[in-house]
Amino acid sequence: MLSGVFVLLLFLCQPSIAIVIKAYYKANPLHDDKLFNDSLLLEAPSNSLGNCNSICGPNCIYFGFNFKQEKCRVHYTTELTNAAMEAEWRYYAPYEPIYKSKDCLGVFRTGQNRSGVFRIYPAGCVSTDVICDMETMGGGWTVIQNRFDGSENFSRNWNDYKSGFGSTPGEYWIGNDVIHELTKANTSSLYVTITLTNGTTLFELYETFSIASELDNYRLFIGGQASGTLGDQMTEHDLNGMMFSTLDRNGDKCGCASYYKGGWWFNCCYHAFLNGLYNTSAWWGPWYPTVSTGTMLKKTSMMIRRR
Ligand SMILES: *[C@@H]1O[C@H](CO)[C@@H](O)[C@H](O)[C@H]1NC(C)=O
Ligand SMILES: *[C@@H]1O[C@H](CO)[C@@H](O)[C@H](O)[C@H]1NC(C)=O
Ligand SMILES: *[C@@H]1O[C@H](CO)[C@@H](O)[C@H](O)[C@H]1NC(C)=O
Ligand SMILES: *[C@@H]1O[C@H](CO)[C@@H](O)[C@H](O)[C@H]1NC(C)=O
Ligand SMILES: *[C@@H]1O[C@H](CO)[C@@H](O)[C@H](O)[C@H]1NC(C)=O
Ligand SMILES: *[C@@H]1O[C@H](CO)[C@@H](O)[C@H](O)[C@H]1NC(C)=O
Repeated sequence: MLSGVFVLLLFLCQPSIAIVIKAYYKANPLHDDKLFNDSLLLEAPSNSLGNCNSICGPNCIYFGFNFKQEKCRVHYTTELTNAAMEAEWRYYAPYEPIYKSKDCLGVFRTGQNRSGVFRIYPAGCVSTDVICDMETMGGGWTVIQNRFDGSENFSRNWNDYKSGFGSTPGEYWIGNDVIHELTKANTSSLYVTITLTNGTTLFELYETFSIASELDNYRLFIGGQASGTLGDQMTEHDLNGMMFSTLDRNGDKCGCASYYKGGWWFNCCYHAFLNGLYNTSAWWGPWYPTVSTGTMLKKTSMMIRRR
């Protein structure tokens, strides 16, 4: 009896299987036009009911979608007491299991072709919410780093970079454990973008990108063909093979993370570094010489995709 339950759980938690059934949710009209503060897990922008359904993960008992405002709300109970009135919300109960995709390429293959926030399951049971870019070069990119206004502090310690910080759709670092999990088969590419304050977006595509586990200090492996408008400042300046460094843990040759105040793979120290002090001249050379100070930046992102 017990082992039967265990086997079922193991099956549901298998990574990289996208479990898809025909009907994903049913309408829950009793809840329509209401606001349930008590049980709100998260509210996020969402461009479709299907997208909202995929944001609604395993803890989600029902979800609300506002078609006019394109917003999604995820809830963990169905308590009707304490509900306030709020027009334009339609509520749905998800059928389990819904999508359980390992990464944004998996989400893309379930038919989601608009960029947005999605829940992924990099290691089976454990989920994380990420931005998926469904447009760049055919779509299916998992955004691992996202910065656009300096609201999130990237001067952080090892454990923060390990687990990730920030939140979608805001600024975030997805977490080194997740990056390792998603790249450990050595079949991922990396796509870096930098948008300058004048609106120009530059990019660099690296054919191969992976990082080691924490046991090997999230060591960086980057290579293959590099192409783009930023220029290759990562392999040409010897970041390949370097260990990760944070404020409290040095893995490079010169103590670069505490000096430049952000976690990264440094040598001594770098020509490319995307986790510096946002919009300051103390952020020297985010992508030198193309982008020479942090004051030139409007947005940065790093995203990965399996080949
Ligand atoms: C629920 O949220 C509304 C709008 O944000 C607020 O006015 C109200 O006080 C909240 N109610 C509770 C019980 O928190
Ligand atoms: C996205 O998916 C919708 C619904 O399946 C489809 O109608 C549309 O053509 C797709 N768009 C692109 C760009 O593939
Ligand atoms: C960011 O966090 C670090 C480490 O906790 C702290 O020293 C620094 O003052 C913070 N920066 C900002 C702008 O809050
Ligand atoms: C991936 O590449 C790294 C570095 O070259 C290597 O140590 C590791 O064994 C490779 N893993 C697989 C699954 O091929
Ligand atoms: C933006 O700035 C970059 C770097 O200074 C320059 O190469 C590019 O031409 C500028 N773009 C526009 C639209 O002004
Ligand atoms: C950067 O900071 C300056 C003032 O220090 C501000 O005027 C500018 O809007 C900021 N730019 C960005 C992209 O945040």
